[in-house]
Amino acid sequence: MTPTAPALQVVILAAGQGKRMRSDLPKVLHPLAGKPLLAHVLETARLLQPQGICAVIGHGAERVRDAVATPDVVWAVQDEQLGTGHAVMQALPRLAPEGTVLVLYGDVPLIGLTTLRSLVQAASSGVLAILTQEVADPRGYGRIVRDAEGRVVKIVEEKDATQPERAILEVNTGVMAMPRSRLDDWLRRLGNDNTQREYYLTDVVAAAVADGMAIEVRHPAAAHECLGVNSKAELASLERRLQMNRASQLLESGVTLADPARIDVRGELACGRDVFIDVNCIFEGRVTLGDGVRIAANCILRDVVVGDGTEVKPYSLIEEARIGARARIGPYARIRPGTELADEVHVGNFVEVKASTFGRGSKANHLAYVGDASVGSGVNIGAGTITCNYDGAQKHRTVIEDDVHIGSDVQLVAPVTVGKGATIAAGATITKDVPPGGLTLTRKVQETRADWRRPRKK
Ligand code: UD1
Ligand code: CA
Repeated sequence: MTPTAPALQVVILAAGQGKRMRSDLPKVLHPLAGKPLLAHVLETARLLQPQGICAVIGHGAERVRDAVATPDVVWAVQDEQLGTGHAVMQALPRLAPEGTVLVLYGDVPLIGLTTLRSLVQAASSGVLAILTQEVADPRGYGRIVRDAEGRVVKIVEEKDATQPERAILEVNTGVMAMPRSRLDDWLRRLGNDNTQREYYLTDVVAAAVADGMAIEVRHPAAAHECLGVNSKAELASLERRLQMNRASQLLESGVTLADPARIDVRGELACGRDVFIDVNCIFEGRVTLGDGVRIAANCILRDVVVGDGTEVKPYSLIEEARIGARARIGPYARIRPGTELADEVHVGNFVEVKASTFGRGSKANHLAYVGDASVGSGVNIGAGTITCNYDGAQKHRTVIEDDVHIGSDVQLVAPVTVGKGATIAAGATITKDVPPGGLTLTRKVQETRADWRRPRKK
């Protein structure tokens, strides 16, 4: 353990309803890049290695708690939303008595680690540090009021501000850090004698100044870090910003993107060298693409590992699967959870594979369903072939040994094993194990009735 500076505790305000989201989902649970807003804030908070994290919840408290439950977060419930100061009061019983308290908002998801470190550092000598920003349009924000010497004297909310105060362009981002030892006293002194009848956390600034404290001011490393989500439009705009950042990182690392504005990474995407990704692909969960992988347009990959040199053709959906090197998937392939494809496997158009393994070089190129199957290497599965894996109650396995060739439109009624090197003729319905080698067919004799006439309308 490295000795840590004065202990840090993080309080995340997340009790608000988010009326303007017009949704039944609590605001902080709306997903950004596939993850709840609050989870983004928690992730950044954790990177500060705080002694504790307390989230103040109110609207949809149960749902919020269930959705982001982790043992390192303690919860405080604010039944009535009486203001940001009131919200922090609810957290007090959950906070250790020393160190620095950092206040974050659950609906400001892009706040950056560097910014927070500098703010916490500024507060570490036992003073109040606030994060402010100059903006072109300060509407809706609390304004930073300074005296003639430029010292911060208070924050005034827009609704309580005088005309000259409203002209101030330096605004409160809402993020602040302060000594735990002074917090109880400052919060006790808050009143709600203001336009909104709320207990404003921002009033701790005036309280600290009244105590003779000089306020430390820091600014965010990037302007967009302090953008909050109050509406679906703001959520969408933050999503684009985050995706653009991720796309830039991918480009930076050498990935070729057909269009950086048309990729969505809702999780972690790790790429080798010379990876190419065409437009409109979505990556969810953890996806790893090896060297030289090519992902064509409109593919969705979730929790997938793809080996070197593999090509995924357009409109393929691949979930919870491992794909080997130099494989060819799609177009229009559906690879479902529990699938492992070895090197040089081909899974072509309109082929669905579920919970199955394919050995090296095996192919199912057209219109097939392979479910709960172990497929050896060098196997060829013909168009229209189906593993009948479900008897209406139980799932059964199909085993296809190495070097088997299966003709078109074959039904393999599981449980069944096809022996090594066997060939199955087109149209067969296989209900018994097939011995190795040889040709197996279940064909009826073809007949033609030359004297047959088509019926005619009377
Ligand atoms: C707040 C600041 C304002 C700042 C702005 C930045 C105050 C009084 N004002 O205003 O100076 O410029 O943020 O966006 O602090 N919350 C609770 N419980 C409550 C009230 C709020 O948990 O009773 C939470 C909300 O869910 C939200 C955050 O606190 O995550 C901020 O609340 P919000 O109502 O958005 O504050 P603003 O009025 O925007
Ligand atoms: Ca707000």
